[in-house]
Amino acid sequence: MIKEKLQVGTMELDGRIVMPPLGTYKCTEDGKVTDEILAHYAARAQNPHVSMIITEHSYIALQGKAKARQLSVSSDDDLEGLQKLVTVIHDSGAKAMCQLNHAGSAALSEVSGQQAVAPSPVILPTKPAMGDDTEPAELSQPQIRQIVRWFAEAAVRAVQAGYDAVEIHSAHAYLLNQFYSPLTNKRTDVYGGSLDNRLRIHREVIAAVREAVGTAYPVAIRLGGCDYTEGGSTIEDAVYAAKVFEEAGVDLIDVSGGMCRYTVPGRTEPGYFRDLSEAVKRAVALPVLLTGGVKTRDDAEKLLQEGAADLIGVGRALFKDAAWETAGGAQTQ
Ligand SMILES: Cc1cc2nc3c(=O)[nH]c(=O)nc-3n(C[C@H](O)[C@H](O)[C@H](O)COP(=O)(O)O)c2cc1C
Repeated sequence: MIKEKLQVGTMELDGRIVMPPLGTYKCTEDGKVTDEILAHYAARAQNPHVSMIITEHSYIALQGKAKARQLSVSSDDDLEGLQKLVTVIHDSGAKAMCQLNHAGSAALSEVSGQQAVAPSPVILPTKPAMGDDTEPAELSQPQIRQIVRWFAEAAVRAVQAGYDAVEIHSAHAYLLNQFYSPLTNKRTDVYGGSLDNRLRIHREVIAAVREAVGTAYPVAIRLGGCDYTEGGSTIEDAVYAAKVFEEAGVDLIDVSGGMCRYTVPGRTEPGYFRDLSEAVKRAVALPVLLTGGVKTRDDAEKLLQEGAADLIGVGRALFKDAAWETAGGAQTQ
């Protein structure tokens, strides 16, 4: 099945293996594309198994910049570099999807030059280890509206740069995931409390992006569906969220972890988020992308055959070895 075509909205993929977003942090200090990053993506796009590359999370505004040398989609000045990035991916026939992100409370003040913002003033457990233990500021409703606009403006830049699709990042403890998870969203206004309220910003972002890019342009969302921890988001929440996103007009649901980020403690088997992808797949008619722990083509084939997902992401294996599972590739067991 890995060679079978798949329709994602108006976009046709010519295989089922996708390179998910993996931050290289090889940009300039202000987020511009470098020759180093072009070479990285060109090599991976040449892998014949890869039908689409989702480029690493790019910040939609300085306020949401997670790390030094992160890719930017926050300014029209980024367009020239982004066009080159898309071109090196297209040169090998692969599709390119742009992941749009606001890091929220995960943004490091020393990188963004400003206080981090979040749904609620909750310090992420991972943050002090990164040398920043400052409390994020709670977002006001006008600030939330500004962030929604930034997502839409960034999506337009992705279109202008020639990307085939965009992905809204709502996983791995970044801003939209912070709204979704009850561990980080303690708001008492319309953006907090019930799950439906915690998904309000997602509906607004999807609507704004849709309006900006038009009905025909493929839009995905990466859902950090479950926190796998006491008091956190659950698989049932993810099923509800996926239905909300389908209704709101996305074309693809890309599942991953929430506050646990992209791994689950104690689980390393291929497709370790399949409990999530299977539950979501049963609930929506949209294609579902599953990533995590896939090391070989056989792993991917088995997950597809078993109906765990429609697309399989191969992250670290391709990151380490651009020639993964080809005659020239190293053994990536
Ligand atoms: C170094 C590194 C950087 C990553 N950067 C991103 C990112 O920018 N956006 C994102 O959604 N996930 C990111 N991830 C998560 C991957 O997309 C993927 O979900 C994860 O590596 C698990 O898949 P794998 O077992 O195939 O590697 C990153 C993971 C790693 C190891």
